[in-house]
Amino acid sequence: MAEKARIGILISGRGSNMAALVYAAKAPGCPYEIVLVASNHPDAPGLTLAEAEGIATFAHPHKGLSREEHDAIMHDALVEAGVEYVVLAGYMRILSDGFVSKWADRMLNIHPSLLPKYKGLDTYQRAIDAGDRVAGCSVHLVTPELDDGPILAQTEVAILPGDDADSLASRILIAEHQLYPGALARYVTREADPDWILAEVRRRALALEETHERASFGAPGWRVGSETTGKYFAYFAQSHHGEASIALLVKTTGIDEQTALIDADPDLYYAPKFYGKSGWIAIRLDQGRTDWDYIGEWLYKSWCQVAPKRLTRLIEIAGQF
Ligand code: GAR
Repeated sequence: MAEKARIGILISGRGSNMAALVYAAKAPGCPYEIVLVASNHPDAPGLTLAEAEGIATFAHPHKGLSREEHDAIMHDALVEAGVEYVVLAGYMRILSDGFVSKWADRMLNIHPSLLPKYKGLDTYQRAIDAGDRVAGCSVHLVTPELDDGPILAQTEVAILPGDDADSLASRILIAEHQLYPGALARYVTREADPDWILAEVRRRALALEETHERASFGAPGWRVGSETTGKYFAYFAQSHHGEASIALLVKTTGIDEQTALIDADPDLYYAPKFYGKSGWIAIRLDQGRTDWDYIGEWLYKSWCQVAPKRLTRLIEIAGQF
């Protein structure tokens, strides 16, 4: 199995979500390990539990420090522990934009509402007062806006007649403990998920001018030009033509370039069956080391190879300025 993702959890109090993550991480197949539990409250009960479980802890009170100063201290502790993903579990501090941007796409939070409903505090009472039939919890990526950011997973929790904020909160908490470990596991292994990889390729391919998607022999493909006369510049190969790998197929300038690429990095490139003879190259996307900017450049180069002159000419002219 691949190396486990290294998780740092930030808490402010009880730490029951942290406990759920700690226990989930004990399962042999869990794709992450908890390497640090840190808090802005040195006496947070969750720290005691983490210590008893043999996990490194760190605490630094925020009193008397600016938000930026305190965040910098927490950031240093996370980096020092070799943390790859920050997981907020009842960390009741608004984070500075600087801290959030340092952990962009690598920081998750759990919030006790069905976001985008009821950001901030008092979520249970607000759901009850609104007459909602369901409440719930959400795991999302952290962006500078409070309780915003792409939602990764949600669980709905029915509101019972006679529920008050406390009874609802305790049921939502059960759902949180179920939701967070799985959502984190899926997130840290997303690069091995074919659907996620395909979505990343698709987004970049369709961002190029005058492109559309059309399957070819069952494989997703992207064409430039009109629906009738468009030409393929990329294919997504997943177990295609009997190959085991997941790869992006793009057009090189010809067999010479194709050969040079394979010679330079035979683990990354191969000549795809069927398309290989006409100078296409397969770039593997299933090795957990995909450089997505590089993939974007390849899509663009391949697009340039087949795009109608009127589109590439505009780019050439723009390039002269
Ligand atoms: C949890 O209910 C969590 O969703 C909430 O704080 C509680 C922490 O409990 N977080 C937020 O409201 C964040 N906006 P815990 O310390 O027992 O995990």
